[in-house]
Amino acid sequence: MSGLKVLVIGSGGREHALAWKLAQSDVVEEVLVAPGNAGTAVSFTNVPIADGDLDGLLAFAQENAIGLTVVGPEVPLANGIVDKFQAAGLTIFGPTQAAAQLESSKAFAKAFMAEHGVPTAKAAVFTEYEAAKAALPDFVSADGVVIKASGLAAGKGVIVCDDLAQAETALQEIMQDKSFGTAGDEVLVEERMSGPELSLLVLTDGETAVPLLPSRDHKRAYDNDQGPNTGGMGAYGPPADVDQTLVDEIMTTIVEPTIRGMAAQGTPYVGVLYAGLMLTDAGPKVIEFNCRFGDPETQVVLPMLDGDLAEIMLACINGRLDANLIKQHSGACVTVVLAAPGYPSSYPKGLPISGLDAVPGDNIVFHAGTKLADDQVVTSGGRVLAVTARGADLKTAVAQAYAGVETIQFENAHYRTDIGRGN
Ligand code: AMP
Ligand code: GLY
Repeated sequence: MSGLKVLVIGSGGREHALAWKLAQSDVVEEVLVAPGNAGTAVSFTNVPIADGDLDGLLAFAQENAIGLTVVGPEVPLANGIVDKFQAAGLTIFGPTQAAAQLESSKAFAKAFMAEHGVPTAKAAVFTEYEAAKAALPDFVSADGVVIKASGLAAGKGVIVCDDLAQAETALQEIMQDKSFGTAGDEVLVEERMSGPELSLLVLTDGETAVPLLPSRDHKRAYDNDQGPNTGGMGAYGPPADVDQTLVDEIMTTIVEPTIRGMAAQGTPYVGVLYAGLMLTDAGPKVIEFNCRFGDPETQVVLPMLDGDLAEIMLACINGRLDANLIKQHSGACVTVVLAAPGYPSSYPKGLPISGLDAVPGDNIVFHAGTKLADDQVVTSGGRVLAVTARGADLKTAVAQAYAGVETIQFENAHYRTDIGRGN
């Protein structure tokens, strides 16, 4: 098949990276992005439909003979966009609403992992504030405890607590003050684990699962992992402490039981499964599952993928995924996020961005919170751009990425200087 029209849904750096990789496919003729950003507007075609407008997206896909739709963010998946497109006979990459519960309900994911023997932190689920508060002392260890809103909370519904007092405040915020809205109607009180974190994204057709490059993101806003949590200030891979044996162990103990379990429950998982892991002394354990590509992990994972992403996604959808379709480039890759001043709290928008033309040719600049205003690229979000570089080793890639970062300017641009540098 050739001449495929592909629609990518979303507007961040992840979606720019998906569009960039899909456009390299031999079978793809045109890539459209809804709603996209300034970067996707320049390289592809933006469609002004919001990622939450499921009916609008469906009508557009039908009217424009879209042969493959790829969903970036979790909310449309949790709202059943895949079921809706499939019911209309369209080809779409991602899990159904039932399968997406692995991310959209942490309570579902915990119960599922318990039933299928997938290693994760011990947790209990509560819907009543008083009962949760009464149970807290049983969960708080010398390491602390973690309180989580069960539902989707834009990556913010997790509060890591050092002691009982912090945990009581967290519970109060989530269950009484409803700081994450209805996402906090159900709450998890969870054992606090420790160890380095790892993101392993796997592609699956519901039966066969193949890992992509193992990667690690940097969630805190400032250098040396200081400051507030963000969506991710950068990522790199493969991390030096992760070898093939560890990836194999994660596939055997975590990914394969999950894929088998979902199929056995009658809700086969097709798409990309993002395992957020902690490498504990007792082996790798699941922190969370996401039902989509990670951001900014995608901006390193896809440049390292040696394969045709559209063919791979179609193979997943058609139940014929083969590990031979997925190879990795050698070396390492890093991406550094440039953020608006003030991110992750309030920040200005509309700041003119300059220097994009001067970025060295061996960098890839993925746009996130950008838009075009009278042909000028301006900021329009918290995470503005992600500058990616590949190199023979991590050190080379990091130096190359920062060479690109330093050519780009907007007022009070903020980025971490230690991405991929051992923190
Ligand atoms: P999540 O949104 O579930 O990925 O959680 C956000 C961050 O909170 C994770 O990246 C971890 O750093 C931390 N976290 C979540 N759950 C735990 C846990 N059980 N133990 C320790 N840290 C955790
Ligand atoms: N980088 C974290 C995420 O995509 O959820």
